[in-house]
Amino acid sequence: MASIPPVPRERLPALLRAMPKAELHLHIEGTLEPELIFALAQRNQVRLPYASVQALREAYAFTDLQSFLDIYYAGASVLLHEQDFYDMARAYLERAARDNVVHAEIFFDPQTHTQRGVAMQAVVNGLYRACRDAERELGISSALILSFLRHLSEEDAFATLQAALPLRERFIGVGLDSSELGNPPEKFERVFARCRELGLHVVAHAGEEGPPAYIRDALDRLGAERIDHGVQAIQDAALMQRLAREAVPLTVCPLSNLKLCVVGDLARHPLPQLLAQGLKVTVNSDDPAYFGGYVNDNFVQLFEATAMDAGQAWQLAVNSFEASFVTPAQRAPWMQQLRAVFERFARAA
Ligand code: ADE
Ligand code: ZN
Repeated sequence: MASIPPVPRERLPALLRAMPKAELHLHIEGTLEPELIFALAQRNQVRLPYASVQALREAYAFTDLQSFLDIYYAGASVLLHEQDFYDMARAYLERAARDNVVHAEIFFDPQTHTQRGVAMQAVVNGLYRACRDAERELGISSALILSFLRHLSEEDAFATLQAALPLRERFIGVGLDSSELGNPPEKFERVFARCRELGLHVVAHAGEEGPPAYIRDALDRLGAERIDHGVQAIQDAALMQRLAREAVPLTVCPLSNLKLCVVGDLARHPLPQLLAQGLKVTVNSDDPAYFGGYVNDNFVQLFEATAMDAGQAWQLAVNSFEASFVTPAQRAPWMQQLRAVFERFARAA
């Protein structure tokens, strides 16, 4: 579009909710709402260290990434059977479709489950079946990204890859998540090289709590095609220039950054500055059941706090499509829908 139709400020929250978007940074285990955790605990006879849904929700007061991860892994302990993974993914996809997410690239953490004796097939098949059913029944497109836990060894990541290879056609890429500080990208250089040889897409969490050097190393040593978070790039002008020049997508998660104390205040979130300096930034929800909001809440609260405008909304939606791993043919109708929504909101002004 040559120029973005002007949309008045008071219409911005409705526009942000209505616009089609892709979600590219979403941990499926982070979509387990406390109610579903308790329902699955009962179904699978798993004992939880919390007396009620309310007590669990009250424990969601995080001081940093690790304080969150401890509770997140405890919540995932209720997932045992293929149907549990299906139910979790189905609930997310229904929620995402209501947020006008037209495409989601979804992380899953197999080691969190295989370490407890759950079969890799149960994890992947449950998630995959939910994705295919949602595509047919809800019209939302999705794909899976297998994410290695970086607090575990590279040897464990290799064993996980090996176990997942019979299901190779059911995921499109690999990622790297969990405790960032002290677990730099180079720890996984060999396993990521193998994944690239296998034709898998490669992404990595970097620069969430870790330094800008981890972002550089995720690009140079792992071959990352996208950086998950990446907000610490703001500290390094040369890295910012490189990310802009090479159009490296950053999958930013504002409410996650707020809840994990990566930023003190949404009004001071670096996203507007990253966007202004030409970086290919996107907005995502990370672990929405834990951080108080799904993708539209991330958009609306960020825009409210930072006085961003409709032009920036347009850019973020376009970035989400361009940064996704779909073909140009798949992207084209989403761009048309985006244009139609902006024109409708401009006309109604
Ligand atoms: N696993 C789930 N959410 C994560 C995050 N925000 N950072 C690192 N690992 C994660
Ligand atoms: Zn994440």
